[in-house]
Amino acid sequence: MCGIIGILGQTLVAPLLVDALKRLEYRGYDSAGIATLETGQLKRLRAKGKLRNLQAVLEGDPCAGKSGIGHTRWATHGAPSVENAHPHMADGVALVHNGIIENYLELRAEVLAAGAQLSSDTDTEVVVHLIAAERAAGKTPQAAVESVLARLKGAFSLAILFEGEDNLLIGARRGSPLAVGYGEGEMFLGSDAIALSPFTDKVCYLEEGDYAVLTRAGAQIYNAAGQQVARAVQTSMVSASMMDKGNYRHFMAKEIHEQPEVIGHSLTAYVDFASKSTKLPEGTSFDFAAIDRLVICACGTAYYAGLTAKYWFEKYARLPVDIDIASEFRYREMPLKAGDLALFVSQSGETADTLASLRYCKQEGMQIGAVVNVPESTIAREANVVFPTIAGPEIGVASTKAFTCQLTVLAALAIHAGRQRGVLSQEEEQKLVAQLIEAPTLCLQALKSEAAIEKLAQAMSKAKNALYLGRGTNYPLALEGAIKLKEISYIHAEGYAAGELKHGPIALIDEDMPVIVVAPHDGIYDKTVSNMQEVAARGGRILLLTDEAGAAASGLEQGEVISMPSMGELVSPIAYAIPLQLLSYHTAVFMGTDVDQPRNLAKSVTVE
Ligand code: F6R
Repeated sequence: MCGIIGILGQTLVAPLLVDALKRLEYRGYDSAGIATLETGQLKRLRAKGKLRNLQAVLEGDPCAGKSGIGHTRWATHGAPSVENAHPHMADGVALVHNGIIENYLELRAEVLAAGAQLSSDTDTEVVVHLIAAERAAGKTPQAAVESVLARLKGAFSLAILFEGEDNLLIGARRGSPLAVGYGEGEMFLGSDAIALSPFTDKVCYLEEGDYAVLTRAGAQIYNAAGQQVARAVQTSMVSASMMDKGNYRHFMAKEIHEQPEVIGHSLTAYVDFASKSTKLPEGTSFDFAAIDRLVICACGTAYYAGLTAKYWFEKYARLPVDIDIASEFRYREMPLKAGDLALFVSQSGETADTLASLRYCKQEGMQIGAVVNVPESTIAREANVVFPTIAGPEIGVASTKAFTCQLTVLAALAIHAGRQRGVLSQEEEQKLVAQLIEAPTLCLQALKSEAAIEKLAQAMSKAKNALYLGRGTNYPLALEGAIKLKEISYIHAEGYAAGELKHGPIALIDEDMPVIVVAPHDGIYDKTVSNMQEVAARGGRILLLTDEAGAAASGLEQGEVISMPSMGELVSPIAYAIPLQLLSYHTAVFMGTDVDQPRNLAKSVTVE
């Protein structure tokens, strides 16, 4: 994680660096720092915590200079502190780093033995000392960087500035993303196109192992073998205005309310509304009839979307699905068949574990599909077939609209696969599509429960623990409800398959335990309600999410009901996600936590 930026500009660079860091804060916010070059001299300012702390430091001590680098940190090696904040500096070299240097202990011993004074606990500082040592031995900045890169193990991206070299910026990419931005007499490096969006839309994504030497006149790019290479410069579709909170207090609130619209956008790409049939986005083709098995892999909320899709692909397309979280998947050496489809679900398209699993499956000869929200991301670029979600940029750390758009796309793909595999008739497809295209309207109706949920959230904010229960596709939703509550309110929460409760977790139930039951009146409603009654009989505080028929049939004597419209089974996980998101959001607001930037988290997890 961490966000990095580098600018060779025409005007004072410090405000531009801060502006870019604001856009990169989703990658981490444990500390922030910049270094600029003024008449050849390096000046560095750093602050612990969010970017606003660095801005306060800058107000009292402005940084001049037209060249600079900046960093916003998600701590890996070394606690969040000023000493561990980037940029790190040694003997006229300043460097910012995203990722992990895996062999830093061995390198650290080497630089210490050579007499270097280290002032941080990071894995980064050793890199700047190694480059400075190469410079001291007489190498040019480029040669110094190239020889040090060859010694580093791990996944990282770097931006490096050299004292006395006002017109030079070097960037390197291995494992973590780095984009070069082209301006008019100005050049930029950034972790993503969002960071560069106020300055330029002309970007070039470095490939694995590349490093780039920038001057104000342009960039020379070299591959891992040190050969100069040409990389395509493209026009990025990311616009600076996409980062606006509008009239909402938090990005998360805005993104929750955007769902009817963006689900509609996603549907448009996968569904023909007139014929009620599924389709693939323009220029995309894939034959689900030609595969025997589907492998799905993702992390966190994206994994829960994938888990829901397992139910759909198995039921509607009779396609066996293996699914795992990416951090486990890549190490468990499961048998994979060349030619089968491995589908990676990711909002950011940069999640390190997901990306590593993708590369592993590619090596095994599998076809690679990506359900991804950031079209220019590494996962999108490395996949053979991209199934875009059209949620627009998601800024709040807790994923909301990306999740429901992932579900929308995966549902459409499962129906499409069912048709291609001859499992669903045209009529069956039409019935399912008719359900799915109701999603935006149902989500709009679900948003109407906000005032009622806000009231319930007040009581929820006093809880220490919470349980979420669901069966079938509502089981992944229970997991999603729990992660949403944990990550922004810091209340301990777990999701369970409702039937599993009696095998252990029921021991946790007492009158202080809120139990949120996700139970639309579907084919397995009665089973879920029996489990709910087991909880009620033991004094648990029930909050039932159901429709009118479900409420009438619940037999619930005590507890609360959040009313949902009635809807088809396929579409319910999409609409029922909304009250769960609202419950977490309002609970967190009551508790006064930092909703968009909760502690210890980052939006894009680019380390393993
Ligand atoms: C939870 C959340 C995370 C992400 C996970 C994967 O709200 O946002 O659990 O879902 O880190 O991220 P992506 O989808 O970017 O691969």
